Amino acid sequence: MRLLVTGGAGYIGSHTCVELQKAGHDIVIYDNLYNAKSAAVERISKITGKEVPFIKGDILDEKALDEVFCRYHIDAVIHFAGLKAVGESVEKPLLYYENNVSGTISLCKAMARAGCKKLIFSSSATVYGMHNEPPFTEDMPLSTINPYGATKLMIEGILTDLAAADKDWSVVLLRYFNPIGAHESGLLGEDPQGIPNNLLPYVKRVAVGKLPCVNIFGDDYPTPDGTGVRDYIHVVDLAKGLLAALKALETDGTKIYNLGTGNGYSVKEVVAAFSRACGHEIPWRIAPRRGGDAPFSFADASRAKKELGWTAQYDLDRMCADAWRFISRNPDGIQ
Ligand code: NAD
Ligand code: WQD
Repeated sequence: MRLLVTGGAGYIGSHTCVELQKAGHDIVIYDNLYNAKSAAVERISKITGKEVPFIKGDILDEKALDEVFCRYHIDAVIHFAGLKAVGESVEKPLLYYENNVSGTISLCKAMARAGCKKLIFSSSATVYGMHNEPPFTEDMPLSTINPYGATKLMIEGILTDLAAADKDWSVVLLRYFNPIGAHESGLLGEDPQGIPNNLLPYVKRVAVGKLPCVNIFGDDYPTPDGTGVRDYIHVVDLAKGLLAALKALETDGTKIYNLGTGNGYSVKEVVAAFSRACGHEIPWRIAPRRGGDAPFSFADASRAKKELGWTAQYDLDRMCADAWRFISRNPDGIQ
């Protein structure tokens, strides 16, 4: 297949492009480089030994999208492009609704004009909200508590309505849990700008000495060691899940899959695993709880296993070892 990958220069997108090319698919990356560098595209090419067509463009720019669909015959779109910082979404809700929701509508309109009606959307475990008991199954009631999550929920609804209205559409909604880790080559990985919000990027900065200490947000949750439990998944496993999900585009309608391991690890377990990976102690201290954090989040990953034949393979030690290789070789991120 030839796949248009929006946001393909970003963290999950770049790893997915490697797996797509390795599996023999042709790709075209479309990214405005808001949160990525063009060097990431060069690194995909370095890993796979294949050319990577790249177009710098915005999903809000329908004219530019029309040109892409005119220039390439695209069989399906894998849609990663979006903004993802929960705190920023609270401060700048219009930016998030416009970029994520309006951007997805622009993309779908351009796809419809081009007669390309197969779409894989990057949703998030955040849509399970605060009221469900894990493991989360795909048919649980959904809710969100921040604008970022609301954009994911709205887009899921829009795409479901679209596929119901026109039987030519095939939509796959993938709910990612907590992707961490990096490509084993040490060439691709995640290193966000500024002070990181998410746990792994923060731990990595402490490990390389750029931040003094990990703040563990609360140790009084009803979890085995009192710290928050999450379903961390190796980004390469996630990328392989995306590859497996292409199969689900063969039939019309909307399909929904969790992409997680089904296992939960606590914050303290993550810090300990990263210490093993980097070979030295990571300093940490207990800080107050962060607002909006649930004690537990982990997937029921059985639907993806049954219907897509996919399960995650890598354990937490491997996730941390690969993340450490990337950050120690690229202390200033991908340049
Ligand atoms: P990322 O920021 O690394 O990648 C997103 C990419 O989209 C970036 O390269 C950015 O430049 C691009 N982009 C943003 N707005 C754009 C626009 N208007 N037009 C074109 N390109 C645009 O993020 P990621 O971690 O790779 O996440 C990819 C997707 O998966 C996002 O939609 C995110 O919400 C979703 N997701 C991520 C996580 C996570 O923890 N990383 C978890 C669940 C879901
Ligand atoms: C993990 C655990 C924190 C930072 C977020 C988004 C979600 C999805 C994935 C996109 C929690 C604790 C964190 C720190 C800490 N993204 N923590 N100290 O909150 O599960 O999910 O990323 O869709 O929508 O909300 O991930 O990495 O921020 O936190 O103790 O400095 O680590 O309290 O228990 P989260 P996270």
